[in-house]
This record gives sequence, structure tokens and C-alpha cells, in this order.
Amino acid sequence: MDNPKNLILVIFGASGDLTSRKLIPAIYSLKNQGLLPGKFAMIGTGRTGFSLDEFRKKMQDSIIEFSEEAVDKDQVTSFLDHLYYLSMDNSAPADFFSLRSHIQEIDDKYGIGGNYIFYMATPPLLYGPIALNLSNAGLTGQSEGFRRVIIEKPFGYDLESGRALNRTLHEIITEEQIFRIDHYLGKETVQNLLVTRFANGLFEPLWNRNYIDRIEITSSENIGVEERGGYYDNSGALRDMVQNHLLQMVGLTAMEPPSSLDSNAIRNEVLKVFQSLQPIKEEDVPKQVIRGQYTGSLIRGECVTGYRYEKGVPKDSRTETYVAIKFFINNWRWGGVPFYIRTGKRLPTRVTEIVIHFKPTPHHLFRRDSGKISANQLIIRIQPDEGILLKFDMKEPGAGFNVKNVNMDFHYKDLANVRVPSAYERLLYDVMIGDSTLFSRDDEVETAWKFLEPIQKAWANNHEIKIFGYPAGTWGPEHANDLIEGDGLTWRYPCKNLADDELYCEL
Ligand code: BG6
Repeated sequence: MDNPKNLILVIFGASGDLTSRKLIPAIYSLKNQGLLPGKFAMIGTGRTGFSLDEFRKKMQDSIIEFSEEAVDKDQVTSFLDHLYYLSMDNSAPADFFSLRSHIQEIDDKYGIGGNYIFYMATPPLLYGPIALNLSNAGLTGQSEGFRRVIIEKPFGYDLESGRALNRTLHEIITEEQIFRIDHYLGKETVQNLLVTRFANGLFEPLWNRNYIDRIEITSSENIGVEERGGYYDNSGALRDMVQNHLLQMVGLTAMEPPSSLDSNAIRNEVLKVFQSLQPIKEEDVPKQVIRGQYTGSLIRGECVTGYRYEKGVPKDSRTETYVAIKFFINNWRWGGVPFYIRTGKRLPTRVTEIVIHFKPTPHHLFRRDSGKISANQLIIRIQPDEGILLKFDMKEPGAGFNVKNVNMDFHYKDLANVRVPSAYERLLYDVMIGDSTLFSRDDEVETAWKFLEPIQKAWANNHEIKIFGYPAGTWGPEHANDLIEGDGLTWRYPCKNLADDELYCEL
């Protein structure tokens, strides 16, 4: 792999959780793999008045606590020498001139040569002001080196604010300088969707309306909102998970083969999928979208708090912690094939998977004792127990033609000696080398918001639309099953274990 050019990474909001849990362990891991540039420094900024030693100690503790690998103390110490801290106010233009001097000092010290990346690990309201302050301080022009800006979702909270954010950023920096993180795109198994589809001749001929009955995408979590009640209550599952992670998985599952691996070639195809999403009419929202909110319950003997009693959540909150949507994609490949997507908190287990349900055979030669007609399923497991499962029918040995549904399964963990890097590692490395393939582009973000707009409007305008309670630890409102077209069909109820899916298990 190429080593990135020498650079300084500036993290705004470096005293926060994202830096401690995800960013610093990821940067440290890149260093261990020899994937940082030859000359590298990081400057953390924040309001907290840390001394340099205090900041380095905090980063050291984070590496020890959150690294996925064993940590070597000497390695950490030499890494910490490259970290710096500046206490500043992101809304104070003058502080950005101090930042500029600080950056210049460090650039001179290491001989970096003017390449800077600015990571906004801050509340989204600050993205515009920080970009403007950077620009006023002369830190966004690219005459001396590259200047890149990383932002985290949410990219607005609806179509209008999403567009406004893009406009604000574009007045200051170009689209090529902006890297919008959707950490799902950093997951190995999400990228593997492209390889599974386009490196194998086997699947592509079947990957269309002629052979596929429906597609189901689930991203379930067993945790609740934890300490993020304040943020989550203004977001809800639709904005937090569907607008970004779930729709990106839809895009990669449904896209046409790109002409090359060029970042725009891939993102153009995802965009075309988003543009082909059949708009859901506001009056159809109750028929096509089910929302829910978890209520208190007892899970394995333990009392679990209902959403409205979580810290930071109002007692009368109508924010959804679960959402399921049925929709169609209006193009030649997918016309008439229903897509079902769902996500929720406090479901029985943490699983993200894509299920391709193939059509049953046109003529049923073999009778089954159960009377059920089975059809092939391809299950692409994003997490955990990453892998791929193909379900198909076999003859049971013995007299007659008894048919049994069996599994052919591949688990990533069986690939010996392969370490699956964290999403942030991959994404930070890609920003460093300037590859924007795995980042959301402005037009993708806006088109995703456009698709969700009628749902947001219907929920805001029509208080008759129910928000169903579901006990924590269950698979969400039962009404979500009514979305699935076809007699007796339901969602797949996945286990933690990819292949062990016959039972309503886990747990
Ligand atoms: C984040 C959401 O983007 O993704 C969280 O804000 C959610 O609410 C998280 O918990 C899920 O990510 P993962 O990688 O654990 O599936």
C-alpha cells in the first residue's frame, strides 16, 4: 500500500469521545502497520485547558483502553511524541490565527511541507463556522500543500438543512476537499459487497428482478441510546441510521457495475440508485413505514429502561428508536422488487446483514413434509460473525425425495491470520492518500434526504401516524411484518451466529 504524503492532522473536539474511542486508536494502529506518513504530527484542539502532558496522558489511556490489539508501551511513547494540543474556541476567529502559528511551528519542526487535514469531531452546528474560520486564517487554500476537511454525520437533519450545509461548505472549500464519513463504508464487509458482486461471474446474471423476489436489509442493535439521549432524541433512527448507513448498503447492493474503481465512477452508480428510489407519497407513509419506540422490559432477569426514561430524553418523546421501510427502485434491474430495510435499538441482538431472497422454482417437483415452498437465500453478514451464507435445497439420503434446506457458509474468521481493520483506520488512511471512494458525496447526501423527506413530513404533520411501543429485547413492532408482501412471509430473525438461523435464537 502507498504511504501517504507527510502531513499534520488537526482534530477539533479532541477531548471528546469520538477521538478517544475511535480516532486515536485507529491512528495508533496505522502507525503500527507502518501506514502513517514518514513525517506526521497530530494537533488536538478543544476548549479544555489541557497541558501537553495531560493531553498525551489522556491519549495514552485511550489507546490502552480502546485499541483492538495488544499495546506495546514503548511504541505508544514514541507515538505520543508526535501529538500536540491547543486549547481554543472554535467560534473565535482570532483563535484560528493562533492555530495557524502552532501548525506552522510544527510543520517547520518536522519539515511537513504544508499538507493538513482538519477533522471536525465536533457538534455539526460548528462545521460551517470552523470552515469559515479556517478559511479566514488562510488555512484552506491549497497552494502550498493539500488541505482536506473531514466531517461526521449528521449532514443536516432534512433536505433543506442538508443542502444549506453543502452550500455553506462549498462557499469556502471545494467538494474534493470534503470527506464525509459514513463509517459503514469503512467496514471491510461492506466493501466486500462490491467484490462479491463484481468479482464473481456467478451472481451477476441472477442479480435482478427476473430471479430476485425481495431484498431485506437489517441493522439491529441490542444497546439502547446509552449516554447519547440528548443527541438521539433530536435525531431518531431515520436520521441516525437510515439516511446514511442503510441507504449506502442499499446503494452498493443495487448499483450497476461501475466502469472502474475510480471514486466518482462508484459514487455515480450509488447516486443513480438513490435517484431511482420510488418516492414514497406522504399519504402512503403509514402503509410503507413502521416506526417504534422501545419500552421498559425484563431481559434475562435484568430490568431495562424504556426509551422515555433514558437520560436526556423527554418523558413524552415521540422519537423513533425503530424504523422499517418498504420501497421500490424504479429501474430496469429492480422494477417491482420490494426492498425492506429496518433498524432499531434494544432489539434482541447486534446484527447487520443483507438478505437476497431468490424466487422459488417455477414448478415444485418435490413435496416437503412441512408443505412450505423454499427458495434460495444469500445472506451477506456485515457484522458480527462476518461472512456469507447460501441456503439451498438438498435431497435427504434414503428412499424417496425428501428435501432439506441446508447452509453453505463462509466465515471471515476462518481466513487465518487476517486482521479486519476498524472502519476508522481504513477511512483515515483513505483521507490521507486522498481517495474519496468510501465517503458520501454532496449529491448522494441530498438525494438520500430527498427520499426521506415525505416520511419526515408525514410524521411531523400527521399525529395519527402511530409510533408503536415495543418491549426492549424484542424484534420491534409486530406491525413491521405486515409490510412484507406474500403469504406467511416475515422478516428473517437473525442470530449472532450467521448459520444458526432456524431458531428465534441468541440471545
Ligand atoms: C452510528 C449511530 O452512526 O452508528 C449510532 O449514530 C449507532 O446510533 C452506530 O449505534 C452503529 O454502528 P455500528 O458500527 O456499531 O453498527
